[in-house]
Amino acid sequence: NRPYHLLAIETSCDETSVAIVRDGTEVLSNVVSSQIETHRRFGGVVPEIASRKHVESMTVILEEAVAAAGVTLSDIDAVAVTQGPGLVGALLVGVVAAKSLALALDVPLIGTHHIAGHIYANRLIGRIEYPALALVVSGGHTELVLLESEGSFNIIGRTRDDAVGEAYDKVARALSLPYPGGPHVDRLAQEAAEAIELPRAWLEPDSYDFSFSGLKSAVLAEINRSNMKGKPIDAAALARGFQESVIDVVTAKAMRAASEFGVRQLLLCGGVAANRGLRERLASLCEAANLPLLVPPMSLCTDNAAMIAAAADLKWRRGEFDSLDMKAEPQLSL
Ligand code: KG4
Ligand code: ZN
Repeated sequence: NRPYHLLAIETSCDETSVAIVRDGTEVLSNVVSSQIETHRRFGGVVPEIASRKHVESMTVILEEAVAAAGVTLSDIDAVAVTQGPGLVGALLVGVVAAKSLALALDVPLIGTHHIAGHIYANRLIGRIEYPALALVVSGGHTELVLLESEGSFNIIGRTRDDAVGEAYDKVARALSLPYPGGPHVDRLAQEAAEAIELPRAWLEPDSYDFSFSGLKSAVLAEINRSNMKGKPIDAAALARGFQESVIDVVTAKAMRAASEFGVRQLLLCGGVAANRGLRERLASLCEAANLPLLVPPMSLCTDNAAMIAAAADLKWRRGEFDSLDMKAEPQLSL
């Protein structure tokens, strides 16, 4: 069989990314242009600026990805793109670029769900054994997804308020750390000599849902208390207390679900999978439970187009294509 090449585009938030992937899982190039520096001074992603930056970067990143892969556009067999969820203006740039390419090259268009991408980033590093459970933790999402078989997604738990990464970013902001704050809170937590005890939101005993807004409020209350007493804030102890609360809850719920549904593998994915404390705790729990754990390398955990190709490849192999009428869907469900 002749090798096939998917070109994938991801623009759902603040990274413009284009990847070329051969035969579904061999990443030939995965170029990511981050807008973080642009958004940093606003303390978060500004949607209007994100869209404009995607427009500016798209053709440059596209050419770079094709060149880095050592292919030409005539080698491309299908164009995949993140259809949603995400910022509507940002998604539109990717979708319009993908449609134009698909039309010009006369190849199929494959719309892809962003979270399917995060989950199937794991296809790029290993073989997924079903049933599997994915713990998706990112700036926009916190979900436990049961995968009974390839391409089937059953969301068994989700956040009722903030996403984990969002909570990290808000806590970081309250501690005057730069955006995005997750890595800074993680580092502080590792350095802390002790932890300030904070609440854990277990919700109903049988629930796989999450809630982080109460924890975030508890952090803000601690900061206010220190300020009122005129005491300096022990940022490290607070970061560690916050991180321990998050890790205790997400790992406990993931392990309970893994056992209840008898999964053969646990997949950790999304930007917060970069968190050292989370990776270490999950690794040791999985080892104790004799449950194989897949965690993509950092470059495949944060938003990138190779993960979109990995998810789109399942549709490619089933011949599930989209028409050129496909629309960006900011609220697309899995
Ligand atoms: O998956 P991602 O790149 O974008 C979304 O699709 O949301 O995730 C970005 C999120 C940000 O909230 C960032 O603060 C968080 O991942 N993050 C971390 C760490 N590295 C990135 N959170 C905690 N610890 C980290 N080491
Ligand atoms: Zn993402």
